[in-house]
Formats: sequence, C-alpha cells, structure tokens
Amino acid sequence: MMRAMTAVDDPRLAVDAGGVRFPTPIGLSAGFDKNGEAVSTLAGLGFGFVEIGSVSAEPSAGNPPPRLFRLPADRALVVAYGVPNEGAEAVAHRLAGTRLPVPLGINIVATNRGRGAPPIADDALIGEYMQAATVLAPAADYLMFNLSCPNTTDGCDFFADRGRLDGWLTALDETPYAPRPSFLKVSPLGGVAMIERLLETVGRHTKISGLMFNLPSARPAGLVTPEAVWKSWPGAVSGPPSATLLDHCLVECWRRMDRNRFVLFASGGVSSAEDAYAKIRKGASLVALLTALVYEGPGVVRRITRGLLDLLDRDGVKHVSEVVGVDVR
Ligand SMILES: Cc1cc2nc3c(=O)[nH]c(=O)nc-3n(C[C@H](O)[C@H](O)[C@H](O)COP(=O)(O)O)c2cc1C
Repeated sequence: MMRAMTAVDDPRLAVDAGGVRFPTPIGLSAGFDKNGEAVSTLAGLGFGFVEIGSVSAEPSAGNPPPRLFRLPADRALVVAYGVPNEGAEAVAHRLAGTRLPVPLGINIVATNRGRGAPPIADDALIGEYMQAATVLAPAADYLMFNLSCPNTTDGCDFFADRGRLDGWLTALDETPYAPRPSFLKVSPLGGVAMIERLLETVGRHTKISGLMFNLPSARPAGLVTPEAVWKSWPGAVSGPPSATLLDHCLVECWRRMDRNRFVLFASGGVSSAEDAYAKIRKGASLVALLTALVYEGPGVVRRITRGLLDLLDRDGVKHVSEVVGVDVR
C-alpha cells in the first residue's frame, strides 16, 4: 500500500542483473537494517531493492560505543559499528516466508569477535562465509558478500591477498547454497592494480555476478568539518566525502571488467537524481544509498527515482540501461 504512493514503477527504470529483475536501480545500501527487522517498511519507501546486513555466521555485539557520529556540515556519517548483528540463523528465521515487492539482498560478512579475540585460521574464516550463505540464501533474492569491512578487527585485509581471495572463491564454487546471484563488496583501497587483480581472480570463478566498493577505512580529504571535531573518532566516513574514491573505483572497474558477465553496484554520497544518474553514466547498473536517508528522510527515495526518469526524458533516453557507462572513455 505504501508503494502505491512512493514507488516510481516505470519500465524504463527496470534493471536485470544476475538474473534478478530490479524495478528501479535505486536501492537501500547495507547497514541501515542490519537484522532484517524492517524490510517491508523499507520496501514501502519506494526503493528498487533493499539490502540488509551485514550478517555474520555467528551473532556479534560489534564494536563498543560510541560507534556512530554525524558530520552535518559534510552531510556525512562516521561509522565504526564493527558489524553488530544477530547472526545468520536468527536473521534467516525472521525472514523466512517474507515476500517483498522488490528484491531483498542479504549482505554477508565475517563475524567480528572483538578486539583481543584470538586470530582465526584462513579456512575457518572462509568457512564462516559459506555457512552464513547456506543459512541465508533461501531468504534472499541475492547475496552481497562483504569482503571488506573497515570496522572489524578481523578480516580487514584478508582478501588483499590474491591466494586467499582465490581460496575463498573456490570454496564459494563448491558450496551448495540455494542458487542466488552473488556479488562482492570489496575495499576501494589499492588503486587500479587492486582492481585488475580482483577482476582477474574473480574472472576465474563462476558464481560472482558483480562488484561493489565499500567505504575506505582512511579519512577522505577535503572535509568541511574541522579535523579537531573528528580526529579522535574511529571509523569510516560515508556520504558525499566518500564519493570521489568510490567513483574512481567504479570507473576504473567498468573500464576493465567483462561487461557481459559483471554488473556494478555503486554507493557513496547519492542524495539526488543527478548523483544517481552520474554514477549510472560512470558504469553503475544499480545505485545504493544510506546516508541520504538519514539526512533527507524517506522522501528522498521517490525524489531520486522520479528525478531519474526526468533526466532520461531530458536526454531522450528510452531505457536506463542505455546510459550505463556512457561517460567513461
Ligand atoms: C551507519 C552505516 C552502517 C553501515 N554498515 C554497513 C554494513 O554493515 N555492511 C556494508 O557492507 N556496508 C555498510 N555501510 C556502507 C554502506 O552500505 C554504503 O556502501 C556507504 O555508506 C556509502 O553510501 P552512502 O554514502 O549513501 O551512505 C554502512 C554505512 C553506514 C553509514
């Protein structure tokens, strides 16, 4: 019923990615509804997809508070949650039987056992992802594997190593979870060399249909908020300050990837139709947001989606897929 007022369901915006049909490319990014508690309401805001999580195999309390801060002058958040969540079993149980009018993505991460926890062996870490995928896939329309969480004490740099990533992908190939399109959310650090390594390694395996870049752990340059305010805060910066690096990764990945095989999700500071359109023109098939929902409120979803249609009209574009990547030379 809510979608009757909020959704902009127009065939010109429908996106097919990994075998899933998304009614619009504008979705909710992971981290807002960590445990899948509000998926129906969130779908009712007019999103074209809703991604929950990150969810780990085991429950986690995440990092101790304070762990979330606002930078209002930058329209940004500083997030150091450390992926608190109720764990795969509890979330899968909650979502069992849920039917949404839009695709439901579940974002999966390694369990954060907190500072001082003994290091976990490579096989055990990989096994955690596979366990969570097996438990959660039946409740999901797609899986987003978060291989880069800037705020956990474990697993952060694990996948910068090509051998480990390859081992992880081999395990995924061999894990018989309910068939669902699967995507990777990876660190944006490491430059073009990292992207080339990633594409080369992922390309040797079969199950991954696309990629997305996560927030970096490093602070972006050019924050309006004085350093004295945020210097002592832990965490990654979301919103507009994250856009430059994430857009750079988007473009460089689009340039190099096999476009018949992979799609790109983009996020980072999207709060207007123009922002979303720019990311699509830089290579994104799907655009996810979180911080704008916090600052602008729920009306932002319809505003962006409606505005996207207006931009297609302005430019004489018949379908949004026609403009994916057109600004990248
Ligand atoms: C409060 C908060 C929590 C987040 N939690 C997660 C998470 O659990 N898993 C994940 O993959 N990304 C998480 N993210 C990253 C977002 O999904 C998104 O990629 C990023 O914030 C950039 O988009 P935005 O500028 O629209 O917020 C989180 C971001 C914020 C601000």
